[in-house]
Amino acid sequence: MLTILTQKPPIIIAHRGASGYRPEHTLAAYELAIDMEADFIEPDLVITKDGILIARHENEISATTDVAIRPEFANRKTIKVVDGEAKNGWFTEDFTLAEIKTLRAKERIPQLRPQNTAYDGLWEIPTLQEVIDLVKHKSVETGRTIGIYPETKHPTYFQSIGLPLEETLVVNLQANGYEGSNAPIFIQCFEVSNLQELSIKTDLPLVQLLNVSGKPYDFVVSGDERTYVDLATAEGLREISRYAQAIGIHKNLLLPKDSEGKLLSPTSLISNAHKANLLVHVWTLRNEDFFLPPDLQGNPQGEYELFFNLGIDGVFSDNPDTAISVRVNKK
Ligand code: G3P
Ligand code: CA
Repeated sequence: MLTILTQKPPIIIAHRGASGYRPEHTLAAYELAIDMEADFIEPDLVITKDGILIARHENEISATTDVAIRPEFANRKTIKVVDGEAKNGWFTEDFTLAEIKTLRAKERIPQLRPQNTAYDGLWEIPTLQEVIDLVKHKSVETGRTIGIYPETKHPTYFQSIGLPLEETLVVNLQANGYEGSNAPIFIQCFEVSNLQELSIKTDLPLVQLLNVSGKPYDFVVSGDERTYVDLATAEGLREISRYAQAIGIHKNLLLPKDSEGKLLSPTSLISNAHKANLLVHVWTLRNEDFFLPPDLQGNPQGEYELFFNLGIDGVFSDNPDTAISVRVNKK
């Protein structure tokens, strides 16, 4: 199973594109990642008022677009509760795709990535179809299999407002020829029930995301008491293996930190997951010291080496060129 995807592990998944170098979730960020030879590009998905899947990390879009300075949309600003948290801003489900297309992307963390602000205002918010079209075009150009690793964001919330993501995603992928357990696709989610339902509707590979704290929001709603840490136990992993082919884990679930941020010994998560026939993909590795532990300041390559040596099957990276260089040197 998954031979196309796993023949050169660890796979490099470009997190929100090459988001260390371009504003996240733009076609420019995805294309740069592909040019850096990432194996997969990762679009987080939300949806518009007219039911079109678009690539954004949140449905509240003021942090990554120019919507807040657009006078024609000033009256769309509102407060909504998403996954139990009040959010004040502008929401994709209140905009048609035509309106979304008038917006322009901007850098999310200009204080850490000031060089990326040179690209603010240049690029549109891409649809899933545009991401797929880019991948098809670049696959022909490069002769490489380039995978897509879509994440459904806030599925319980979107279901509750009559704009479910999953059916649209599967239909879009099927219409573009993505079918079967060996397709270069991983569908990921932090919630559980939608992945379980997807496992009945599609053979495409599925990924259960596991955070280092908290619990899936659908568990909050249903009253299920299990946390992500419970799902990361040997028993939890066996349960996940009934509907998913991989886990996508916060890096500290595998390499915990002490109170000063120093790395501790690895947990048994990889061996437990592999025993349950689950691949292990780790998120998110980034070059900036801000994201690196004290022992690895100025040495982002060292963090990849640590995780690669532990036997992970894939890594989400904001800097695919760094990830690829470490993988090349490892062989
Ligand atoms: O999807 C896994 C990884 O991307 C971490 O989640 O919050 O960056 O979408 P997030
Ligand atoms: Ca994601």
